[in-house]
Amino acid sequence: RTIRLEVARYRPGEDAEPVFQGYDVPLMADWAVLDGLNYVKDQLDGSLSYRWSCRMGVCGSCGMNVNGEPRLTCGTFLTEYGEGPVRIEPLKGFPVIRDLVVDIDDFLAKLSSVRPWLIREGEELPLTTEYAQTPEQLEAYKQYSMCINCLLCYSACPVYVLDPDFLGPAAIALAQRYNLDSRDMGDRFDVLNLDEAVWGCTFVGECTRVCPKHVDPAEAIQRYKLTAALRSILPWSKR
Ligand code: FES
Repeated sequence: RTIRLEVARYRPGEDAEPVFQGYDVPLMADWAVLDGLNYVKDQLDGSLSYRWSCRMGVCGSCGMNVNGEPRLTCGTFLTEYGEGPVRIEPLKGFPVIRDLVVDIDDFLAKLSSVRPWLIREGEELPLTTEYAQTPEQLEAYKQYSMCINCLLCYSACPVYVLDPDFLGPAAIALAQRYNLDSRDMGDRFDVLNLDEAVWGCTFVGECTRVCPKHVDPAEAIQRYKLTAALRSILPWSKR
């Protein structure tokens, strides 16, 4: 048995519009969509371009739109789609470099903008102190540290698709990963308290729904809205 993949092919500058190319691949019970693409690349058409690395839901590089839904293609089985066809497109909301490969430079800049590291003040380097945490202190930010930067939440976000300046779910969740860490002394109010940041979110919640790692960026955003609102009446409040 085979299943048909309809794969978006696009080379900006060469092709006027993306076109869909059909490939029939074996429908195996243990094959993910990524296995189907690898079959195409190895056996049918070596010119197909897409990203992947770990094949086990860790690296975050294989995100694509599969039948209209942002999915990790290494964790999405072909058998989910019955007899097919399976339509595979690049993640929505990002410029396409070629075929299924999108440009993530803007996303990486957004991650950096939230200062994603533990900020300490008044300490000499190198640090020799150990900063132990209780299980409760770890639990406060742990879910946000599970993000693998797969971009699915951006592709699902109706705000980001309309406004590329929106800081977006993963970057705000990353900021909260540090804001809620008991070892962090930083202040990210300047990058979060903006119309293009937490106040741009309309709380549709699609980011949380599509996250393959069960991170809840929608909650992170709503929580920081409360922090920012409190800060307007209690200026010394940081968290
Ligand atoms: Fe690494 Fe899919 S290939 S997450």
